[in-house]
Amino acid sequence: MKNNREETIIVEGLAYNGYAFGRLSNGKIVFVPCVVPGDKVKIAIEDEKSQYAIGEAIEVVEESVHRVPPECELFTRCGGCQFLNVDYKKQIDERVKIVQREISRSLKKEVTFDGVIESPRLRYRRRAKLFIERKIIGFKMVKSDKVVPVGRCPILTEKLEKALITLYSFNSVLKNGIEVFLGESNKGDEVIVGIKAKEKIREIHDIYHALEDELKVDVGLRIFYPGKYSTLGKSYLRDNLLGETVKYNYFSFFQANIFLVDKLVEKVVDLARGGKKVLELFAGSGTFTIPLSRVVESIVAVELDKKAVELLEKEKPENLEVFNMDVEEFIRKSKEIYDTIILDPPRIGITKDLAERIRGLNADRIIYISCSPPTFARDIKNIGYNLSRIFLFDMFPNTYHIELVALLER
Ligand SMILES: C[S@@+](CC[C@H](N)C(=O)[O-])C[C@H]1O[C@@H](n2cnc3c(N)ncnc32)[C@H](O)[C@@H]1O
Repeated sequence: MKNNREETIIVEGLAYNGYAFGRLSNGKIVFVPCVVPGDKVKIAIEDEKSQYAIGEAIEVVEESVHRVPPECELFTRCGGCQFLNVDYKKQIDERVKIVQREISRSLKKEVTFDGVIESPRLRYRRRAKLFIERKIIGFKMVKSDKVVPVGRCPILTEKLEKALITLYSFNSVLKNGIEVFLGESNKGDEVIVGIKAKEKIREIHDIYHALEDELKVDVGLRIFYPGKYSTLGKSYLRDNLLGETVKYNYFSFFQANIFLVDKLVEKVVDLARGGKKVLELFAGSGTFTIPLSRVVESIVAVELDKKAVELLEKEKPENLEVFNMDVEEFIRKSKEIYDTIILDPPRIGITKDLAERIRGLNADRIIYISCSPPTFARDIKNIGYNLSRIFLFDMFPNTYHIELVALLER
């Protein structure tokens, strides 16, 4: 219901939808973007439903002690960061509460964290996809499909920011490009830049050399045209994770926080150490798989993305078997017994049927890596194991995203 009412509220906390929240005088919860827990704000109520309302801040009447100056002038317009004006410690406290609320709603019990692993607040993002529209490169704007021009981005690593600025100086990239992909290896010694384009990018060699000159590391540049692509330099990106090489494709998934990826892998490897027969679902090109293969007797990895599997196959140790297929299909056909299952699904989590089939495999332990507290809370209830340990990895400071690693035991 549209509603022009105004009210003054005290902001109580941050929510997983990227908004802050408080309460209206009628007790209803109200979500408001870009305000800070502890702020006293005058809001206009934009929409009111039976369970909650959405408001817009008109005036900050009293600033919270947790309010900090956002380090980016695009904050509130760019859809990348939602909490850049909240101090880091408060962000962490709020993330913990968000997860606790989701789990207590689903499992009807309180949880305490076994570890909260913090990240530097800025310059952490080593994988990014941006869009090109009307000679602008940027992220999508808040509540819109329009692109906001990003020249400087304090979240990107310095090298990726330099790569972005370099691309801005090439006219045919701006004219013919559709999407840009930027990736940096965890050791910072390699960068790949992918461009999806409508038509020929004439300056491909010049762009490649400009990237090399600016970044002073090994560079790869791949330009995708309808039905084909050209590559100069590196064909893939290489991480060194716990001494093992893991390769990633242009425009493919890999862990985005350059400071925490090693710690995340270390944690999963520690929890799975000593596994005899391990099953890893949603394996990607092997972020966990390859380091894990060194500490377990045998491992079976399942991944749908053919290109990711090709790279995983190239690094395949002897005790690893890889299946390029849908995990649901794999589980339906599986007759094997596993003592350890590793699960790292996309944000949507897993279906109830898959959760039940995983329970049916009767493994001693399941390690669930999640980037979505609500689907995580739903899925662990459906799996029905005990939540024994849980860690929060702050992979995405200043945004609403939250990464969890949990040990579930039968
Ligand atoms: C969150 S990523 C994790 C990848 C990997 N564990 C990593 O950390 O790099 C999820 C992965 O699941 C894969 N995936 C998505 N749906 C799938 C399905 N139905 N069956 C198998 N793999 C799937 C995606 O291609 C992606 O590689």
